[in-house]
Amino acid sequence: MAVITGKAPGKIILFGEHAVVYGQPAIAIPVAKVKATAHVFPDFESRAGEIHIQALDIGLDTFLFELDPQHPLAAAVNLTLAELQLEHIPAFQVQISSNIPISAGMGSGAAISAAVIRGVSAFLGRPLPDSTVSALTYEVERIHHGNPSGIDNNVIAYNKPVYYQRGQALQFLQIENETHWVIGDTGEKTPTLETVSDLGTRHADKPHYYDQIFQTIGVIAQKARRALIEADIKTLGSLLNENQALLSELDLSCTSLDSLIKAALDAGAEGAKLSGGGRGGNMIALASPAKMDAVEKALYDVGAVNVISTKLAREPQS
Ligand code: PMV
Repeated sequence: MAVITGKAPGKIILFGEHAVVYGQPAIAIPVAKVKATAHVFPDFESRAGEIHIQALDIGLDTFLFELDPQHPLAAAVNLTLAELQLEHIPAFQVQISSNIPISAGMGSGAAISAAVIRGVSAFLGRPLPDSTVSALTYEVERIHHGNPSGIDNNVIAYNKPVYYQRGQALQFLQIENETHWVIGDTGEKTPTLETVSDLGTRHADKPHYYDQIFQTIGVIAQKARRALIEADIKTLGSLLNENQALLSELDLSCTSLDSLIKAALDAGAEGAKLSGGGRGGNMIALASPAKMDAVEKALYDVGAVNVISTKLAREPQS
């Protein structure tokens, strides 16, 4: 049996983080430059049903039965096996690696789960469709993120730009013209669970005030949908800045994010905002191709620990 590889990309949220948890629409795109990979192959030294899991990046080298079932890798494999309901499971090994920055709003956890689910199901002869990969990834996300909106598992499992709203049919964005984005990492890590639960407490205290802000963010995401499809970068730039102003009002920005955002705008970006959980992690800027290098350099100059540029392009017609 050959080695089977499951893969999944990183992602970045362009519009609507946090408000999406409260039912507003949000937009996210896959980032193909970074990815998670799971190589799955037979383990001739173990007994049937024994599953060896290796994630050397995080120093993990163990058998499934030795892992806490709440561990995301154990959950990803167990959920896949439960979904497949196979009578016979051979001994196999799963080798996981990822170059997606961790805890930086780029979906590293969801991408690793999706890669494992894909790799293991394909290895066992029953490759799961994207919809099931997304649903199982969501289940893993729930263990550690409490109440995830569901945007990460969708954009990552389908590997397509998505317009996502809880309880509504998922929409894929058919991009007509390309846009160029620069992602800058502050290097500061605040778990998303923390910012989401802190905002949850504040929302419970003053629901009317926060709901109004979430609704305004929702309207921004609605307007951004068409502007993104058409690559109307002037409109997108203003919408990014408006979304950032509201995220600041929600107290989700911080000094390092503000300084990266200002540097990007000063270097000629059309717009910029934090992306993901906030209070650290990543920001994202939209730039014309001519300004990309200047924006990247400006971000490094003010202390970004990592800068990734990515292009959102029209999908090749099949
Ligand atoms: O930190 P990230 O990129 O996984 O983004 C979290 C996005 C939130 O809207 C804050 C939470 C969610 O579940 O959608």
